[in-house]
Amino acid sequence: MTAIGLGIVGCGGIANVHADAAMRSGFQLVTCWDSQAERAHALASKHGAAASSSLESLLRHPRVDAVTVAVPTDAHAHCAEAVLASNRHLLLEKPMALTVAECDSICAAAGRSKGRLQMGLVCRSSPAAQHVMGLVRSGSVGPIDFIQARGTRRRGIPGLGGWFTTRSRSGGGCMIDVGVHLIDLALHLAGWPRVLRVSACTASRFGSPIEAYRSPEMWGGPPKVDGTFDVEDSAIALLRCDGGLSIEVDVAWAANIPSGAARDGLLLRGAKAGVHFEIFGAEVRTVADRDGELLDERSPVLLGQSMSGWDAAWDAQYRRFGDVVRGVSEPAATAADGLELQRIIAAIYESAALGRETEVR
Ligand SMILES: NC(=O)c1ccc[n+]([C@@H]2O[C@H](COP(=O)([O-])OP(=O)(O)OC[C@H]3O[C@@H](n4cnc5c(N)ncnc54)[C@H](O)[C@@H]3O)[C@@H](O)[C@H]2O)c1
Repeated sequence: MTAIGLGIVGCGGIANVHADAAMRSGFQLVTCWDSQAERAHALASKHGAAASSSLESLLRHPRVDAVTVAVPTDAHAHCAEAVLASNRHLLLEKPMALTVAECDSICAAAGRSKGRLQMGLVCRSSPAAQHVMGLVRSGSVGPIDFIQARGTRRRGIPGLGGWFTTRSRSGGGCMIDVGVHLIDLALHLAGWPRVLRVSACTASRFGSPIEAYRSPEMWGGPPKVDGTFDVEDSAIALLRCDGGLSIEVDVAWAANIPSGAARDGLLLRGAKAGVHFEIFGAEVRTVADRDGELLDERSPVLLGQSMSGWDAAWDAQYRRFGDVVRGVSEPAATAADGLELQRIIAAIYESAALGRETEVR
């Protein structure tokens, strides 16, 4: 099969993960562009590609069939709409954009384009999540009453002082960054019931003053001591869905949690079985009533030889995107999903600001 020509826009931390996964999954990195030229040159030279001098020149490249957009959130809408206007297929990193209005605009651009848009919601593609999706679809979990989704770090604020922690560039803190993955996965497993109302609380405790923050390693680091921290570093939300499901989302970039006291991952409390899994973990735990006895089981999930759950998820995301580009599959996560997630997150931030439950509009 001929490799699909890929362009990457934004050559920072996650773009390297994209490039590696794409190259393992039927794509050839042709060219990339970053507003910091040295980053584009570094990624291009690693993969035998060319660095483009602008977004426009990347989109003029005749061998680019598809484009990954992995820039800070405030640049998503501009870059995504340019890619779609060029009729290229687009893999757009999460969250979709800064605001619901920007997401509407991207969706309209997707509607006019011959290219397809797949959202970069990679957690859906993890082996554990796919295994659990199989259990849910088989009926063995039964109707789900509650989902608890947790993604907490003790000291893991990304890029402190930079775009991640500047609301006007990121749209928010840990909820829009990590929570978007958890909400997406919970809704995906539950069959996308409509979220009607949310109640949320946020805290902003550890990121300021920036010079006092201590973290041995930092995604997007080191801290910029003269930068901005005006977002939440902890958040809890309760989502009430049509049909009765409720979803509790517990996220933190930084929190004082005793080691091992809070298990990350998703817990599905179904009428027939309970399921817990870590998103990139190697096993799924279940419990079900068997003839009056509660039977706990641990099932390994399929991973390739020496492949981590993280790598397997990224490769699966790109294999699916490749099928979308070839016209044999629908996007794993659609533009409509990205828009709906943005509406929910906007309601979460509104609820936290107002101190009461709010409607998802
Ligand atoms: N799926 C995941 O698990 C995951 C993980 C991390 C980040 N992300 C997402 O990926 C995106 C990028 O995050 P990151 O951690 O790589 O950030 P980063 O800061 O490491 O990289 C962003 C890059 O974009 C460049 N850039 C900024 N504005 C630009 C513009 N207008 N045009 C071109 N290049 C521009 C910067 O110079 C930088 O090199 C964000 O949307 C983030 O939410 C997703």
